[in-house]
Amino acid sequence: MEFFLDTANLVEIREAASWGILDGCTTNPSLIAREGRDFVATIAEICEIVRGPVSAEVVATHAAGMVEEGRLLARISEHVVVKVPLDAEGIKATKILSGEGVRCNVTLCFQPAQALLAAKAGAAYVSPFVGRLDDVGIEGMDLVRQILEIYANYPQYTTKVLVASVRHPMHVVEAARLGADVITLPFGVFRRLVQHPLTDKGIQAFTEDWKKVPDTDIVGQVGRWLEAHGR
Ligand code: E4P
Repeated sequence: MEFFLDTANLVEIREAASWGILDGCTTNPSLIAREGRDFVATIAEICEIVRGPVSAEVVATHAAGMVEEGRLLARISEHVVVKVPLDAEGIKATKILSGEGVRCNVTLCFQPAQALLAAKAGAAYVSPFVGRLDDVGIEGMDLVRQILEIYANYPQYTTKVLVASVRHPMHVVEAARLGADVITLPFGVFRRLVQHPLTDKGIQAFTEDWKKVPDTDIVGQVGRWLEAHGR
């Protein structure tokens, strides 16, 4: 499963990228607004850091405007994926942009029929919003399950399922169990994936116990051993 970061915050993106396992990034108008920085400069910087798919969202509400914005956004960097809303105008725009070779992430997907249309329009990604469905009492992961099931029936569709609106690590586990292609994570969730109190406790115990061995310098000890054995 590919891991994207769901943020426009460059500090968070740099930190996640430094782990070496970040595949891409998603933004949306709300995330861009939160940072209070120039949109285009932000997208260009994210592309430089991530060097993988970076979703930049159109804000036009009619297909012609979405296509115009999408064509321009795609020229910022080869890494830009144009994010388009999953309504009729968005489907029209996705069909045109995809036909021109512009990768589209069709966003705000809340039911499987919408995902079917996104695939037919040639979207590179479809983004089911699991958290926002959970928020209104509908099991968000059921949507992911149904989309994967539908797409599996039609191997000609190459649209990747990008699980979005993620709230906690269990969303990540469930998405991976279902075989989703991509998940996009707020930085807080990304960081929590690695955390477990028993891991911290174990590291602390090993570190303390290591102080009791006669020679604690692994690098020096191994270096001398390798030299002595001609390796
Ligand atoms: C991803 O592409 C979306 O922009 C994002 O996941 C939305 O998340 P939210 O429901 O937490 O705003």
